[in-house]
Amino acid sequence: MRKVHITETILRDANQSLIATRMEFDEFAQILKEIDNAGYHSIECWGGATFDSCLRYLNEDPWERLKKIKSVVKNTPLQMLLRGQNILGYKHYPDDVVRNFIKMAVYHGIDRIRIFDALNDFNNIKVAMDETKKQGAHAQGTIVYTVSPIHDVNNYTNLAKQLEDMGADSICIKDMAGLMMPSIAYDVVKSIKAAVNIPVYLHSHCTNGLAEMTYYKAVEAGIDGIDCSISAFSSGTAQPPTETMHQALSTAGYDTGLDLDTLTTINNHFKPIREKFLASGGLNPKVLTPQPEGLVNQIPGGMLSNMISQLTAQNSLDKLDAVLAEVPKVRADLGYPPLVTPMSQMVGTQATMNVLTGERYKLIPKEVKAYVKGEYGKAPGKIDEALAQKALGSEELLTTRYADTLEPAFEKAKEELKGIAQNNEDVLSYLAFPQVAMTYFEYRKENPSFDQYQKMTDSETIK
Ligand code: CO
Repeated sequence: MRKVHITETILRDANQSLIATRMEFDEFAQILKEIDNAGYHSIECWGGATFDSCLRYLNEDPWERLKKIKSVVKNTPLQMLLRGQNILGYKHYPDDVVRNFIKMAVYHGIDRIRIFDALNDFNNIKVAMDETKKQGAHAQGTIVYTVSPIHDVNNYTNLAKQLEDMGADSICIKDMAGLMMPSIAYDVVKSIKAAVNIPVYLHSHCTNGLAEMTYYKAVEAGIDGIDCSISAFSSGTAQPPTETMHQALSTAGYDTGLDLDTLTTINNHFKPIREKFLASGGLNPKVLTPQPEGLVNQIPGGMLSNMISQLTAQNSLDKLDAVLAEVPKVRADLGYPPLVTPMSQMVGTQATMNVLTGERYKLIPKEVKAYVKGEYGKAPGKIDEALAQKALGSEELLTTRYADTLEPAFEKAKEELKGIAQNNEDVLSYLAFPQVAMTYFEYRKENPSFDQYQKMTDSETIK
């Protein structure tokens, strides 16, 4: 029986996609043992927005959360999502910060790191991959999936080969916007599986109503694993339900390694939590319904609402159709970046400006200038010549990795935080989210009975 691995996303992506990562540690602590025993390939539980949300909204130390999860989950690998050189945010960090962050994450229990760059510029993930392997963890190289005239099966297969050559232990095809058609998944997976010798995983979202079909075709094409979330927190903007995928695949003769009774126990734990979030409005029923408009205009929901609020502020909502028509043109001019953060905001803002000023690229936001210069990495396709000249002015194109222009920052931050940071984890939290971390440190100080304050002492020796 062929094995199809299942990664559970309830603690990270499903939590993030459906309820803005507001689930507290205490809400899932009692069910961790069962999650560990269910037979999952891995548990995605950290990285992405979990880190920021812990500090900003939940008054939890993200490192402490990881340690506590690891103290219970002894058998199943813990997985995190890392934005390459951006770690968990959108700015580029110097290499010493990236390396220290990964070292600490692995030290506290992360076994597998899924590493991606929004532009698929692998120069932006190579340091993170190198450090992950140095620390003995599994480095999963990631291909961000998008739809454009320059992104095709060959392109994705070449990217997969590059990741294998860079030493990736496995590959993830990351369809973060849920755009991948089942037939395309079949072709892409078939082609990549024929080209590389490492396992290939698929990550998608039910946003447009495709993911279950897409997963099934990917399985038929030979995918090694898929990401699912336990049914109480599945579907909509999250992943397909774990129990359903398990039963569909088992019936077809695939071995998921999962135990349905344990999955049911896990789901029973999360059902009342779902009800609580529905009642409070933290879970908006809207995000549970497929919105296939995204398949037509390629515009993610967040980007559309941004454009609408920009236009409303300018009293120009009547220009929405003109802006929607401008979006694909701007995207083409910028070399077809995947429409994910921060590129989706950049393309949306530029398209809005082009329409409102009545002249294309009369105004160019500084983020777009930085992108054209190469500060975010290499554009997937060719940037329009005229736009490049206008955006650059007298400035030169960056010929190296942007991170190569940055000074080391860890030791300096550590010095600055004397008397505030209790350990290196605090320094890394500060580097990742400076203001948010400072507010959290204040909270911790003012609440001395706060248990996490007492516990965090054990890693000062890690350099
Ligand atoms: Co996702």
